[in-house]
Amino acid sequence: MTFISQNELNTIRSNVSIVDVISSYVPLTQKGKNFFGVCPFHEDHSPSMSVSEEKQIYKCFSCGATGNVFTFVENYLNVSFAEAAIILAEKAGLALHWDLPTKRKVKYQEEYDLMDLTLRFYQNNLQTEEGEKARDYLKERGLLEDTIKEFSIGLSLSNHLFYTLFSKKGYKDSLLQDLGLITKSKEQVYDVFQNRIMFPIHDLEGHVVGFTARCYLFDMTPKYLNTRETYLFKKGSILFNYHRAKETIRIHKQVIVVEGNMDAIRLSSVGIKNVVALMGTSLTREQMEALKKLRSQVILMLDNDTAGETATFQVGNLLEENSIPFSVVRLSGEKDPDAYVLKNGAAAILENVKNAISFLDFKLNYLKKNKNLQDASDLADYIKAVLQSLKNNSDTILKEVTLQKLANDYNISYAVLKEQLGNEEVTKKVVFKEKSQEVKKMKSTYEKLCEEILYYMMHDVVFIKLYQTKLGIFPTKEHRLIANEILYYYETNKDIQLADFITYAETTAMYTFIMDILSSIEEKELTESAMLELIRRLKKKMKEQEIEKLKIELKKELDENKKTALALKIVEIKGSVSDEDY
Ligand code: UTP
Ligand code: MN
Repeated sequence: MTFISQNELNTIRSNVSIVDVISSYVPLTQKGKNFFGVCPFHEDHSPSMSVSEEKQIYKCFSCGATGNVFTFVENYLNVSFAEAAIILAEKAGLALHWDLPTKRKVKYQEEYDLMDLTLRFYQNNLQTEEGEKARDYLKERGLLEDTIKEFSIGLSLSNHLFYTLFSKKGYKDSLLQDLGLITKSKEQVYDVFQNRIMFPIHDLEGHVVGFTARCYLFDMTPKYLNTRETYLFKKGSILFNYHRAKETIRIHKQVIVVEGNMDAIRLSSVGIKNVVALMGTSLTREQMEALKKLRSQVILMLDNDTAGETATFQVGNLLEENSIPFSVVRLSGEKDPDAYVLKNGAAAILENVKNAISFLDFKLNYLKKNKNLQDASDLADYIKAVLQSLKNNSDTILKEVTLQKLANDYNISYAVLKEQLGNEEVTKKVVFKEKSQEVKKMKSTYEKLCEEILYYMMHDVVFIKLYQTKLGIFPTKEHRLIANEILYYYETNKDIQLADFITYAETTAMYTFIMDILSSIEEKELTESAMLELIRRLKKKMKEQEIEKLKIELKKELDENKKTALALKIVEIKGSVSDEDY
């Protein structure tokens, strides 16, 4: 978090109107108390997002996006929390007081400074006499001085020079070790990176958090040694080059996704700057979220080998499931985009991007792999696989065209294909329904009641007091932790308003959980009697659960005296359930 106090943030928040702010980005129309607009956080055309002037929050009924004015600006403009705060402070005319960028106190400042210094150390090595072979290597690969600078490429040397220098500078072993820069075994200390070309890796906001280091003197395993997972370096939540590319991506409304960092560096060096790399072949949920935030067309351009093809299929399915618009480029001839550019130049890549194919087209081809379509059973498998993948597609025209094409190409009755697809879709819907009921069922015990009660508590002091006097504690840990955050917020601020609590929640470990509660519970009028009813039901549930537990113990118990005691206890609890009365 920044140095801005919760109070100051609340001042900013209460000096802007969420309706004014959101309507400056998305058209809103008023219906009754609330305002409605098309939700910018998922593909949609109907107005599924409501904005409440009274509560100062927004909520999408379709995708569940919710939050206050800070979260809206953060997500809509894809900026950091501090940047969103500055933008809103300016809108509120409070600009002069909020000189954030210079005064901003960052949580891991010491670590970031150290990583920057480490980076400069590696960059410097590359310019020394010992760096000659590495410079030759980079030249050989066609990386120009400008590119080496832009990507802050450096070099690690032997003899634990890094450790020697940095411990002299006063850096503690524990810090160097925690950041994955040195390792220790017994009394020995080693530099993790030795004799490798060093490529810094930045997090989404642009802090150096790790390195990927390539061998160059001779082949070594691994070819690229990466910083191990540390509290700064979480490989799964990083996209290589994201922080440099995001502006260009937003302007182009297009992001090229490649596999290797060298692919990204190469494309960028020839002027194709809207590129990020997965640094491997999978795509994590966090990377997906980062891509989603760019709200751009994704061009999936993975390596030209079997692994790249399989990855295109897998990553493509994930993008499709997450409604991220994308198309596919399969380069031919060279092994990856890096080699392709070296051979054919930037214009050829752009031509490929222009001719990117739909994921469906890719799949129609991909699913043919290793199948002999002259063989009846292979052909049947192929057709089934195609129908299977068609059912995820919401484009009805595309579906029709594909069915026609299949019918023509393989001389199968269109009606049969259509019927089969219909069956697949029905099955899918049923499965989906069962699944969502299952989720509801899972939540229908403690969890749902607890979440509802927490929902009330986030809205008004009255409900916090009811919780304190009538319930006091939640049966499960997560709910207790959230309750603690609410109570802590209330104690420090002597009040609670949902919109301000959301600002605070963002700094806690429970944020995702809290937002999940806010987006899953339907808007309604909150009354004390309704909250008391929830508490009553939760207590009843807790007692029922306690009785169940005792019954199990009773069954197992052999000692007659203890059995009697258990039975009495059960009776006692049973009695108190019906006596419950407020
Ligand atoms: P590639 O082997 O395709 O890398 O791995 P590349 O970009 O073509 O590298 P060059 O051209 O040989 O230098 C793709 C990505 O997988 C990760 C790296 O992030 C790499 O960019 N990788 C690969 C590793 O982490 N370790 C490895 O040993 C190899
Ligand atoms: Mn590659």
